[in-house]
Amino acid sequence: MYTQGLDQKTKTSDKPGPLEGPEQLAEFQARVDAEEKIEAKDWMPEAYRRTLVRQISQHAHSEIIGMQPEGNWLTRAPSLKRKAILLAKVQDEAGHGLYLYSAGETLGVSRDQMVADLLAGRAKYSSIFNYPTLTWADIGAIGWLVDGAAIMNQIPLCRCSYGPYARAMVRICKEESFHQRQGFEIMLELSKGTDAQKEMAQDAFNRWWWPSLMMFGPGDKDSKHSAQSMAWKIKRFSNDELRQKFVDVTVPQAQFLGLRVPDDDLHYNDETGHYDFGEIDWQEFLDVLAGNGPCNRQRMAQRTRAHEDGQWVRDAARAYAARQRAKAA
Ligand SMILES: [Fe+2]
Ligand SMILES: [Fe+2]
Repeated sequence: MYTQGLDQKTKTSDKPGPLEGPEQLAEFQARVDAEEKIEAKDWMPEAYRRTLVRQISQHAHSEIIGMQPEGNWLTRAPSLKRKAILLAKVQDEAGHGLYLYSAGETLGVSRDQMVADLLAGRAKYSSIFNYPTLTWADIGAIGWLVDGAAIMNQIPLCRCSYGPYARAMVRICKEESFHQRQGFEIMLELSKGTDAQKEMAQDAFNRWWWPSLMMFGPGDKDSKHSAQSMAWKIKRFSNDELRQKFVDVTVPQAQFLGLRVPDDDLHYNDETGHYDFGEIDWQEFLDVLAGNGPCNRQRMAQRTRAHEDGQWVRDAARAYAARQRAKAA
């Protein structure tokens, strides 16, 4: 899971580095325009590298922090089957984090550094994970909506100009589509259930709908890095284009479930062939981004605790590696 809107928030200079002449930059752009993949050892503008480090590390952090809201229901899943499915899904997210930290490392930043930046509050993760999971239906809503929105963002990233990131996204997207289906299936089951179950599904939908739309980031007119990212073919569609696609795909699914979209302004526009929808509460988005969402502090405290608890594992792995090296020498 990941929101591309996040990358609007961290500052990156677009100034050329010391050895970046106009010819070199033009040559690089020509490779990108020709849809050639840029690989780890290829020359790249410093601003391109920094943009990718910011985006990939935020993406990795989101996968790891995103395990928390769903992990909250692992011990309370309603059946053994549900528990096994959810466990597999949460483990997938850990795997996504690992591929992405590895992709980030190809750009010359260590995983230790990326993690340190997260724990010190210098790096962000997707704001969606700062909302609580109050009922079992939230697990359905997250898979259906949050993983669904993530897929919209991530399918185009499979064609990203940076090879290691693009290749990591191929496998991630396959797994995300399983996540989306498992969430939808939970919602389907609840929507065919008792009145209380239907109400629970509607309540979860009401709480997750708007934050899911925010996952695509600020509107195009407020999206600072978008134009450069599009030119570099890191990004293929604008925030608003992706958000519209998500709404167009998801509204009929909600209708199929018999759920009401919590938006009085939502209607199908015959002229455009798209759904028009109401105004997003951007103040809420900014508040959560600034650290004041319902669970920001809890999420960071838990991640910090998990990191500290894992110190002995890292120490043991390093000691073992040192012994192996000594033996080989
Ligand atoms: Fe994921
Ligand atoms: Fe996922």
